[in-house]
Order: sequence, then structure tokens, then C-alpha cells
Amino acid sequence: AAASERVFGFLEEPEMADESQKQALLGRDSAGNPIQVKGDVEFEHVRFGYEPDKPVIHDFSASVKAGEKVAIVGPTGAGKTTMVNLLMRFYDLTGGTIRIDGVATNEVPRWNVHSQFSMVLQDTWVFRGSIFENVAYSKEGVTHDDVQRACAAVGLDRYIQTLPDGYDTKLDDKTSLSQGQRQLLTIARAMVQNAPILILDEATSSVDTRTEEVIQKAMDSLTVGRTSFVIAHRLSTIKNADMILVMDHGDIIERGTHDELLAKGGFYADLYNSQFAQTELTA
Ligand SMILES: Nc1ncnc2c1ncn2[C@@H]1O[C@H](COP(=O)(O)OP(=O)(O)OP(=O)(O)O)[C@@H](O)[C@H]1O
Ligand SMILES: [Mg+2]
Repeated sequence: AAASERVFGFLEEPEMADESQKQALLGRDSAGNPIQVKGDVEFEHVRFGYEPDKPVIHDFSASVKAGEKVAIVGPTGAGKTTMVNLLMRFYDLTGGTIRIDGVATNEVPRWNVHSQFSMVLQDTWVFRGSIFENVAYSKEGVTHDDVQRACAAVGLDRYIQTLPDGYDTKLDDKTSLSQGQRQLLTIARAMVQNAPILILDEATSSVDTRTEEVIQKAMDSLTVGRTSFVIAHRLSTIKNADMILVMDHGDIIERGTHDELLAKGGFYADLYNSQFAQTELTA
């Protein structure tokens, strides 16, 4: 009964709007020639609710320059994941506009928005297939060298070389990677995707301190030269962000750099100091 409820719920969902008439594309000039997407992102009075009468995001505005690293922090339920969902256009806005390089994301097809992003999410996913296929993922024309270079950059190459089939090793129930290795594999995947905008939902727990350091380094190198949005769980990792957005109840309640926010002595400073105190205790 529970399963059929989900199936029928899915069938009853309204169709997504037809987008076949949308001519403009990110990454193409008006004549259709490929151009580089820079990765400027602009949120202008964004409003949104998953249900029409229950707003989650009230009035979100922020302007991000290409290549900047933006951290989004805030308590659970604040709306961090929601902002990422909206940015990638998994949902349409109730009001306001999100622009990438000055183009409103609802004026181009969804697939075209999605292809501007690489994501590294907290729950890593690998699928049944070879290591090569898992890293190359949906990108076309990826060579063995591309995959190997990315795996070397995240420190996985050596391990893969020790497997009997190397990069052709099938990942299934018999050969599986550890949690840390899976996280590194998804970072390698994002490197190969090489999209102009990056979304990182930081890994927490479940890896040892050394692996965490390796992952952190790999993530840091991934953000270089890309606009990145980092949903940070440990504030120590976002000290170098160009802008920190502190969210609570769907609103930005503070914004600035780490030093500015600490000096302000508000919500962020409290959050940081409490995490810092905890680290001191456990160390
Ligand atoms: N698919 C959904 N349908 C309806 N409401 C949702 C949905 N996803 C999230 N919400 C609601 O939207 C609000 C913001 O949730 P969101 O997932 O953005 O929080 P978050 O800041 O990412 O929290 P966390 O730190 O726990 O990941 C919450 O009140 C949540 O209950
Ligand atoms: Mg979330």
C-alpha cells in the first residue's frame, strides 16, 4: 500500500512545463556558437515555497561574481538545500529571478541550466558500472587520461592501480569503495565534468581525520577558478570564503567574510565560537 501510494502520487504530479520554444542557451551566443560561461550568479528578490501558501524563502537577494566561493550556513531547516534546488532549477520560483551571466535561468531549458553545475553531495552515489564509467558519468568524449588525471588529483589513482582490472573494475556488491573513497570518486567526477559552477555539500563524520584532510584538499582545488556554493557544516572549512551567507528561517540574517562576521559578534560568531569550543574539548 505504501509503495502504490508513492507510485500514484508520482503519476499525479503535474507535467513539467514544455520548454521546446526556448531558444536562448547558456554557453551559446545568439548565433549559436559556443562561448565560455563565466559563472556570475545573481539572486534577485527570490521567493519560494514548496507549497503555494507556505513560503520557505521570503526575499533572498545576493550577487556572486564569477570564481567566488560562497558559503551558506545556518541551522537545520533554514533553507540552504532549498536555495541549491532553486539555483539548479529543480523547482521554479514563486517570485524574483536567478540569473547566470545575466540570463534568467527560467528563460533557458532546464537541461541547459543543469549542465552548468558540478555537484559533490553529502550522500555519494556510485552506480553499477566500471570505475571509469562512474567518473566519466554523463559527460561525452572523456578519455582514459582525463579520468586518470582526476583520480590522481584526489589521490585515488594509486589504489585503483592495485585493483586487478584497474579503471575497468566493476563497482558492485562485491567490489565496493569505502565511504571516503566514494567521496573522493565523486570529487574526481566533478573535476572531469569541469562545469563553471560548483555545489559542494560538505561531507561530515564517517571518515577518519586523515581522509577528511585529503577530501578537504581535493575540494579546495576543485573550487579554484569556479563559482562555488558550499553548504558548510564545519565552519572551520569556510574561513576563506569570499562571502558567507547566514540563513535562518528562509532569510539571510547576516552576510560578510569570516572576519567581518566574527567582529560583528552576532549569530555567526556565536555559532563559530560554540563549534570551536566543541573542537577544543574533543581534541
Ligand atoms: N520537498 C519538500 N517539500 C516540502 N517542504 C520541504 C521540502 N524540502 C524542504 N522543505 C521545507 O523547507 C524548509 C527548508 O528546508 P531545507 O531542506 O532547505 O533546509 P536546510 O537548511 O537544507 O536544512 P539542513 O541543514 O537540515 O539540511 C524546511 O522547513 C523544510 O521542512
Ligand atoms: Mg539541507
